[in-house]
Amino acid sequence: MRWWDIEPVLALELDLFPEDAWSEGMFWSELAHARGAAATRRYLVAELAGRLVGYGGLCAIDGTGDIQTIATARDQWGTGLGARLLTALLSAATAFECREVLLEVRVDNLRAQRLYERFGFEPIGFRRGYYQPGNVDALVMRLIPAAAESTAPPADPAHGTQGNPTHG
Ligand SMILES: CC(C)(COP(=O)(O)OP(=O)(O)OC[C@H]1O[C@@H](n2cnc3c(N)ncnc32)[C@H](O)[C@@H]1OP(=O)(O)O)[C@@H](O)C(=O)NCCC(=O)NCCS
Repeated sequence: MRWWDIEPVLALELDLFPEDAWSEGMFWSELAHARGAAATRRYLVAELAGRLVGYGGLCAIDGTGDIQTIATARDQWGTGLGARLLTALLSAATAFECREVLLEVRVDNLRAQRLYERFGFEPIGFRRGYYQPGNVDALVMRLIPAAAESTAPPADPAHGTQGNPTHG
């Protein structure tokens, strides 16, 4: 994702996360951490015939990855695009040498939860009232990449993500 993608990403964001959409400034802030040798973020977009149809982002700090957001345009749901984006984000987590990957997902977002379960994410706890202003709880899920299974420390569902409340 580059700065010129922010406008079409925001259009999707408002459609897909109407209650708690990220602001333009939040995306600028994330992208500011996505470049250079000390980068801690990887943000991706998917395009179809020149149209931006999906995006996702990962934060990686001290061996812990966090899926910051993942979304696909409604007319792409069920095509496998979400799975492809998640695969790419997990590859980025491997490149960042993450020992574990965490995410938060709304407790009522069963479609996304199914996608994560298919990839081996397991529920490890809840964060109460995480999504505001709706006061909706987040389910915290965790994946330990196979290569890191013997070294991962115990998970803390109350872990603090860097910056924004996450969408994935
Ligand atoms: C959650 C989200 C990213 C999933 O994206 P997606 O593109 O629909 O994901 P996929 O197509 O890979 O998988 C979703 C479903 O389609 C099915 N599917 C995958 N490939 C398919 C194909 N080629 N043909 C038919 N169905 C397919 C999958 O089996 C899956 O079904 P299931 O959930 O019943 O198991 C998308 O629905 C979305 O953007 N939702 C709104 C934003 C959101 O909630 N983001 C997550 C925040 S935590």
